[in-house]
Amino acid sequence: MALSELLLEEGWRVVGISRRSSTLQATDYEHHVADVRSGEFPAVLEQVVERHAVDVCVYCAGTGEFLDKGALQKQRTVFDVNLLGAVSTTQIVLPAMVRAGGGQFIGLSSQADGLASPDAPSYSASKAALSSYLEGLAPSFRRDGVFISNLRFGFVDTKMAKAAARPFMVSARVAAEQVRRCMHRRPVRMTYPKRLLPVLWLVALSTAVRRWAS
Ligand SMILES: NC(=O)c1ccc[n+]([C@@H]2O[C@H](COP(=O)([O-])OP(=O)(O)OC[C@H]3O[C@@H](n4cnc5c(N)ncnc54)[C@H](OP(=O)(O)O)[C@@H]3O)[C@@H](O)[C@H]2O)c1
Repeated sequence: MALSELLLEEGWRVVGISRRSSTLQATDYEHHVADVRSGEFPAVLEQVVERHAVDVCVYCAGTGEFLDKGALQKQRTVFDVNLLGAVSTTQIVLPAMVRAGGGQFIGLSSQADGLASPDAPSYSASKAALSSYLEGLAPSFRRDGVFISNLRFGFVDTKMAKAAARPFMVSARVAAEQVRRCMHRRPVRMTYPKRLLPVLWLVALSTAVRRWAS
């Protein structure tokens, strides 16, 4: 939402897809209702790609679930949205960009992609796979004029940020400005904010020490 607002302010034409209808009202905004897990999502996206020359596609859809050992299907949902929805999106958008002679795909991943989290294992695992997939695709598609970026956020002040402690959390607007920066710089990997990295290294180290000691 924050990214759509920022792009509309700059004069872009924006198409959004999500499960709910949007409150965004703008002449240059078009919204489609679809769940990335549903069988109808590929057809909705294909129609968008046929009707518009897509310069930039940002895969934002994401979810997270704390571990409930009695309901492991919720962990599966996280993979379906965070990873497989992104894979389906690349399957439709990247060939269209290749045919058009260029484009840019940005996936919103997370700095949690380097953690093995006992609290929300599917979140960090799905983001690890997403980061790896995007960074693996990037060099192959670069030859076709398509730039693929893995944008790894820390904490952003949205309903997704559920952790008890959220160091260095930024606003959705600041995060949207970083997506804009990523659109401009087109790196394979971008991490924001970098000052969160030492905190996550300490978390990863303490997990490794606990595993070693047990
Ligand atoms: N917030 C953070 O701290 C944080 C940190 C690192 C990375 N990220 C990543 O940044 C991305 C954006 O998250 P956010 O913080 O902006 O969360 P958000 O406010 O919950 O936004 C998630 C977006 O995804 C859409 N969405 C969710 N599930 C969907 C589904 N099954 N099908 C289609 N659309 C779906 C939601 O719209 P509907 O509800 O209408 O479907 C919403 O537009 C996510 O991938 C998240 O993992 C967030």
